[in-house]
Amino acid sequence: MPNSKIAGMGFYVPEKRVTNHDLIEYMDTSDEWIQERTGIVERRYAIKHEETSATMGVEAAKIAIERAGITAKDVDFIIFATLSPDYYFPGCGVLLQRELGMQGIGALDIRNQCSGFIYGLSIADQFVKSGMYKNVLLVGSEYHSAGLDYSTQGRNVTVIFGDGAGAAIIQPTEEEGKGILTTHLHADGTYAEQLAYINPGCHGGKWLGKKGYGYPDETKFGGMFITQHMVDNEQLFPNMNGPAVFKFAVTKFPEVIKEALDATGYTAEDIDMFVPHQANLRISQFVQKKLGLPNEKVWNNIQKYGNTTAASIPIALTEAIEAGKVKEGDLVCLAAFGSGFTWGSALIRW
Ligand code: UT7
Repeated sequence: MPNSKIAGMGFYVPEKRVTNHDLIEYMDTSDEWIQERTGIVERRYAIKHEETSATMGVEAAKIAIERAGITAKDVDFIIFATLSPDYYFPGCGVLLQRELGMQGIGALDIRNQCSGFIYGLSIADQFVKSGMYKNVLLVGSEYHSAGLDYSTQGRNVTVIFGDGAGAAIIQPTEEEGKGILTTHLHADGTYAEQLAYINPGCHGGKWLGKKGYGYPDETKFGGMFITQHMVDNEQLFPNMNGPAVFKFAVTKFPEVIKEALDATGYTAEDIDMFVPHQANLRISQFVQKKLGLPNEKVWNNIQKYGNTTAASIPIALTEAIEAGKVKEGDLVCLAAFGSGFTWGSALIRW
């Protein structure tokens, strides 16, 4: 059975830069607070009515396809990871497919939030290794700025997130010991509501009680159960228990990386480049310290883009490659943690 490898990568971020200072216009926050707690200096926001998760994914995909030395016609399966899809359904995979003229091939949308790229990579890896597909296009793309609460109430979530997309082509490789060596996926739904975008949805008050999440009152059917109460009480935004997410993240990142190292017989010292999901610079630095890695072996770019969820790893990995920091033969470690909670890791011999 051949291994699979990442044959080409690309990323796209919107041109519009939004600095921490820009956010002060809408909410009670400060550049010092945001930088000190998260490391973020600025993030990108998509152009309303023009850019979407699907369109940004298309731009990233075009670059990945070209760099893999193939054309869109060669792609035989699409995996699209996003928590901010253009439509409630169908998913972004088919929209991207239509734009790239790849009609007919399978398109799978996955909802694994910050771990979306690693989950997608693992799925692509299994399909390629089994011989089912030869060119899987994996995209992670997010349009967060369309769904954030710009009031002070939402500041803990809003200051963190940014828009962008990253993509990869996964192909088989016959080269011994090269490619995706191992992937590890986990989830614990006990914490589903700790970082969630609850409404709109069809939960009907089932999980959290009817009062707290705006259901029912004088509910009208339709709109995926959007009620006036939800609108009046600003219950149509993401919510996050930041400290709880932080606490879990700093435990689960090292755990799942160790799992990947143990599965392959490597140690942290063998890692040439670690690309963590860009959740918070303090989380990345904590994990780096735990692994004992020097700065030059860790790629962080949250300072420029904020947390782009499913797009953060492919954007960061593409940047690291473009900067010449990922070379042939390098051992690359990817890891992510986020909403679900979900978490995962991958080790790749480049
Ligand atoms: O992608 C994966 C998912 N997300 C994450 O991994 C995020 C993990 N969590 C975090 O990164 C951090 O918890 C945050 C950056 C979100 C928040 O940092 P924190 O140090 O955990 O702050 P906190 O939520 O405990 O809040 C501390 C204080 C509060 O004020 P009081 O109650 O102490 O007066 C907050 O209201 O900071 C306040 N605060 C802010 N102040 C200024 C929260 N957000 C802001 C803000 N600007 N943006």
